[in-house]
Amino acid sequence: MDLKGSRVLVTGGAGLVGSHIVDRLVKAGADVVVYDSLIRGREKHIERASSEGRVEMVKADLRDTDALAKAVDGTDYVFHQASAWLRQCQENPRLSLDVTITGTFNLLEACVKYNVKKVIAASSSSVYGEGIYLPTDEMHPLNNDLFYGAAKVANEQHYRAFYKKYGLDYVAFRYLNVFGPRQPYQAAYMDVVMHFLNKIDADESPIVRGDGNATVDLVYVDDVAHANLLAVEKPVTNEVFNICSGVETTIKELAEILIRLRGKEGKLTPAFEAMDAGLVSRRQGSPDKAKELLGFEATTSVEEGMMNVIKWRAESDS
Ligand SMILES: NC(=O)c1ccc[n+]([C@@H]2O[C@H](COP(=O)([O-])OP(=O)(O)OC[C@H]3O[C@@H](n4cnc5c(N)ncnc54)[C@H](O)[C@@H]3O)[C@@H](O)[C@H]2O)c1
Repeated sequence: MDLKGSRVLVTGGAGLVGSHIVDRLVKAGADVVVYDSLIRGREKHIERASSEGRVEMVKADLRDTDALAKAVDGTDYVFHQASAWLRQCQENPRLSLDVTITGTFNLLEACVKYNVKKVIAASSSSVYGEGIYLPTDEMHPLNNDLFYGAAKVANEQHYRAFYKKYGLDYVAFRYLNVFGPRQPYQAAYMDVVMHFLNKIDADESPIVRGDGNATVDLVYVDDVAHANLLAVEKPVTNEVFNICSGVETTIKELAEILIRLRGKEGKLTPAFEAMDAGLVSRRQGSPDKAKELLGFEATTSVEEGMMNVIKWRAESDS
């Protein structure tokens, strides 16, 4: 994709998904502005992109309407990744309202004011809550009962309302379980990868909470970034999509995959411990709509993606 001459804003651009979108945008020749408070993201995540292309870092909060307006002025496309995270929202529901809902509203107002062509926004499969049926497609009821999911539902409704009233084009992505290099160590669901690797590297059994039959739908971060750029390329608007692999992986399988990838098969086996309640028990998204309307398919296998996580961990530790 060629984005030469386009100015693109990535909120949360120093985070996991955002920084990989930045990598792809730089390759596509865009001028990129990263808007991130750095509460969780790291500037080092965009160092390589900054050395290869035109990347400006704006350290500011979504709640700062003046900084936001300044950053949005002159922008063609906005990739909106910044958000309070799941555990943060449960611990501090007011923050979820202020950052994720009001912050997004602030952004959308600025996008209307400065005639942004399209917003590509991160929603979440959390909007589905516990799956009533699997694979979960986009028609699945919004069965969420957490503050994080509530904020994502509110945002999706605001995208629709801004589209209807102002014609602001958008696509919202309900990501399933994104993993890859630069993933935060404390991310809900995916923190398990780091816990497992820490144990395995110490020659100890990775500890699985519960019976290990809980599942995740793992989707590799660069595939997610690819989906984001497809949303600019394709003339699709006013739609939500699952971004997922469509494959269920149990937590026990994940532990076994990581043991194998670290070359400790036969030496280590997962150990089991009492359940950490609160997260949903099974995740499997339907990738069909994204395939049909965006031509998106997740192509990176769990093994290949996890090898990249392992390499990245080794490089960051050295
Ligand atoms: N990672 C996943 O598995 C997953 C799954 C579903 C949805 N999502 C959503 O995708 C988006 C990206 O997720 P991620 O995994 O890259 O998260 P991340 O935490 O790595 O990145 C989010 C970025 O937003 C920034 N940020 C947070 N609050 C901010 C604020 N008030 N103002 C400005 N910047 C702020 C953080 O510093 C961070 O760099 C988020 O909206 C998240 O809710 C992620």
